[in-house]
Amino acid sequence: MEKNFKRTLVTCALPYANGPVHIGHLAGVYVPADIYVRYLRLRGEDVLYVCGSDEHGVPITIKAKQQNCTPQDIVDKYHRIIKDSFTGLGINFDIYGRTSSDVHDRNASQFFRKLYDEGKFVTRESEQYYDPEAKTFLADRYIVGTCPKCGAEGAYGDQCEKCGSTLSPEELINPKSKLSGAEPVKKKTSHWYLPLDQYEKWLGEWILDGHKEWRSNVYGQVKSWLDGGLQPRAVSRDLDWGVPVPVEGAEGKVLYVWFDAPIGYVSNTQELLPQSWEKWWKSEDTKLVHFIGKDNIVFHCIVFPSMLKAYGDGYILPENVPANEFLNLEGDKISTSRNWAVWAHEYLQDFPGKQDVMRYVLTANAPETKDNDFSWKDFQTRNNSELVAIFGNFVNRAVVLTHKYFEGKVPACGELQDVDRETLAQIPELKASMERNLDNYHFREALKDAMAIARLGNKYISDTEPWKVAKTDMARTATILNVSLQICADLAIAFEPFTPFAAEKLRKMLGVCICAGIDHRKGEQETVNTYKQGEGCALHTVSSAEVPADARTSCPGADGCTCLSWDLLGTDNILPEGHQLAQAELLFAKIEDDAIDAQLARLDAIRAEREAAAKAEAAKQVAPQKEECSFEEFEKMDIRTATVLEAVKVPKTDKLLKLTIDTGIDKRTIVSGIAEYYAPEDMLGKQICILANLKPRTIRGIESHGMILMARQGDGKMRFITPQEVLANGAQIG
Ligand code: MF3
Ligand code: ZN
Repeated sequence: MEKNFKRTLVTCALPYANGPVHIGHLAGVYVPADIYVRYLRLRGEDVLYVCGSDEHGVPITIKAKQQNCTPQDIVDKYHRIIKDSFTGLGINFDIYGRTSSDVHDRNASQFFRKLYDEGKFVTRESEQYYDPEAKTFLADRYIVGTCPKCGAEGAYGDQCEKCGSTLSPEELINPKSKLSGAEPVKKKTSHWYLPLDQYEKWLGEWILDGHKEWRSNVYGQVKSWLDGGLQPRAVSRDLDWGVPVPVEGAEGKVLYVWFDAPIGYVSNTQELLPQSWEKWWKSEDTKLVHFIGKDNIVFHCIVFPSMLKAYGDGYILPENVPANEFLNLEGDKISTSRNWAVWAHEYLQDFPGKQDVMRYVLTANAPETKDNDFSWKDFQTRNNSELVAIFGNFVNRAVVLTHKYFEGKVPACGELQDVDRETLAQIPELKASMERNLDNYHFREALKDAMAIARLGNKYISDTEPWKVAKTDMARTATILNVSLQICADLAIAFEPFTPFAAEKLRKMLGVCICAGIDHRKGEQETVNTYKQGEGCALHTVSSAEVPADARTSCPGADGCTCLSWDLLGTDNILPEGHQLAQAELLFAKIEDDAIDAQLARLDAIRAEREAAAKAEAAKQVAPQKEECSFEEFEKMDIRTATVLEAVKVPKTDKLLKLTIDTGIDKRTIVSGIAEYYAPEDMLGKQICILANLKPRTIRGIESHGMILMARQGDGKMRFITPQEVLANGAQIG
């Protein structure tokens, strides 16, 4: 049973400020959240949209070390980049805060302190790795060594990036501190733990019994954690970057990043709304929704709720946690460390003005129920044959023809024919389906519904052919264009959550605006939608007389022009007869092959670089020493210098050369598998070394008398052995 809420608080996972955001983040968290928020606002609902950077944690300190700067430098840099990427993509949080802020520091501290004072933690002593030279405890990531599973060097204490195995520092062979290179030693330390086991029963009742409607990936993960039994979880770390543990005797300890980060949602709300934040976090009338990726499920469904439960004081719990699976890129897992990603800020540079295309493609391919793949070809196809050919094409035809025949004024709607009625009747159905899908976080399906309205319009105008009818029947032409323009207005509503830039362009063309929704971006002072100089709806542009530069005002035409809202979608006569349209503008432009090829070339280069690095690594791998042999055994081998006199390929083989060589003893034939490495002409006249007394073997019908000595590297590369300077043939080697 759906409860009736008065407001919705939407949070998005706080991205780590140790790198830019990529399309995996966007598809998994931020684009779906943004669709949801825009949809609710179109419905006139009161929504608060909160995010910010997650600026603590070990990876940030490692990055700072690598780049020889402070962790603060790192988070300052990426906080900017990430924040700008979101804005660039039309993802406009009410607040985008940061966990290195003072507000958060105080809030997280106070949160810990209350739980501490009330005895909600248990303390435990454990042995942790310690760097005796750097005099500091070492996070797992700070310990490197040889992977026990695959033998790769440089495996981390928590994971081998080479073979992907999850490790613990104990397992590493020859472990070393990344800080000093010293061998880590075990040292006793004590930490605070949240006894999750005590919340197990409550969590089961709340989620497993109470939220069977949650996505199956989320519900399933929660169930398997609970079935496996919960353990107390450490909420502090020995580290010098983070929120200091606010307890005496806790020098050198900070809150564990996963303890402080989710509190960041609350801190950021407090920063924006210092007086009224509690109504968002402590009122049963607020619907809390966390948008996250699948790797965050346990923290948002088990750990953070247990923290809030332990804290009490009226904190609400999430009503839903729509977590997505992962997005792959061109068939490979997206990886920041391997640079296998499409970065949001780079996309915005490479494809200016095409924010909507990425939003559209990531939604159409959203990894809602399973991992999904992003490919540049698919991106191009969806733009060219869906956004351009259907949505854009339809709108363009309707608006251009209205200018051509009716001076850009919405013409009169005459008597409707069957085709008109049947077309229009489908829109309320598609709207209802969109609502069902959006209310249940099925954004992919909702986008299909929106696109179905565009298809409907495109088909309608193609079938009714107003450009032909105009030659004989202006009244009928007027009706067709009236119907078409009403569908355009429907699209301006339906696409607002998905492609907000195109929707806004469309509204300008149609001379309408959206003035619904409360804007919380100014904090306590709530405003309706606001515009800067030169902005506004198509009918009403805010002039410089009305508002100073950089300030904002509500749409000056809010009362006088047609304001769209969700409720109007699918209703009759959204645009009144005689309503003036602005000039037609293309909503979307075709994406040519060269833009796509450039992206593919970039990825190919990264792939090639990675393969080359892997090869170089393999080349260094040395085969283990063979079993001992005696001097007598070695002495049996007659190894000599020889010169190649003739070399030809053995017919119908790729690998074999037939060589005639002068061994000093005789001239003989050797068949050798070196054609992969040397062409016949490379061998001519070369002095080589051979095992002369190897028992003759017949290879492809040719008798081979001996074997060429070759050196083989770890990656398989082979070279023949030649003396430092040319010697007489038949010189003995040994
Ligand atoms: N920084 C985390 C990640 O990128 C997400 C933190 S979400 C929060 O996986 F709840 F902790 F804030
Ligand atoms: Zn490994």
